[in-house]
Amino acid sequence: MKSGFFITFEGPDGAGKTTIISMVAKELNEALLTREPGGIDIAEQIRRVILDKENTSMDPRTEALLYAAARRQHLVEKVMPAIEDGKVVLCDRFVDSSLAYQGHARGLGIDEVFTINQFAIEQMMPDLTIYFDIEPELGLQRINKNKGREVNRLDLENLEFHHKVREGYHLLMKRFPDRIVRIDASGEVNDVFSKTMEVLKAKLF
Ligand code: TMP
Repeated sequence: MKSGFFITFEGPDGAGKTTIISMVAKELNEALLTREPGGIDIAEQIRRVILDKENTSMDPRTEALLYAAARRQHLVEKVMPAIEDGKVVLCDRFVDSSLAYQGHARGLGIDEVFTINQFAIEQMMPDLTIYFDIEPELGLQRINKNKGREVNRLDLENLEFHHKVREGYHLLMKRFPDRIVRIDASGEVNDVFSKTMEVLKAKLF
């Protein structure tokens, strides 16, 4: 039985998503903050395999299945119990990442990747998704400036791939217009944060 509120945050790499979410979590201090892939031990182990820069031979379908596997475990162990407990869950990435990255950018097909994910999530879609939109050129520039951030296997993809990721998200906004809210992430952090809080307050309170 579902009683909490499930909010996911999405966007291309370098959109500043993780910074904004930690600011949101401070503001909504009762909310549970978590991330994908990861958030719990088994899923963090899968994360290491997927994002390891040495794993250059990983097949796109293997990649999609590993993300879905990490998602399943995280959902069952952490997200579902919190939602059933009436909590607000803030999740840094969820199924839309697989649809944009593996489905569209890797070319596996949004519908195909959604099908394998439905097996993993069993109807558990977010109540709200905030999508931080940014030009890939600017996103990658931010990643390069942020020296403390881990650089993962997907960050190393070329600019064309990152353009496809963004295009994928734009397709998803058309497909799920009631769930996905776009926020322009090209501006200053505090400005993006206050726009995010406006959207959240309108939905939560
Ligand atoms: P992060 O840097 O936001 O933690 O995400 C790790 C990388 O994994 C990022 O490049 C996006 C990518 N990713 C996918 O390709 N598919 C997915 O389903 C998820 C959750 C992340």
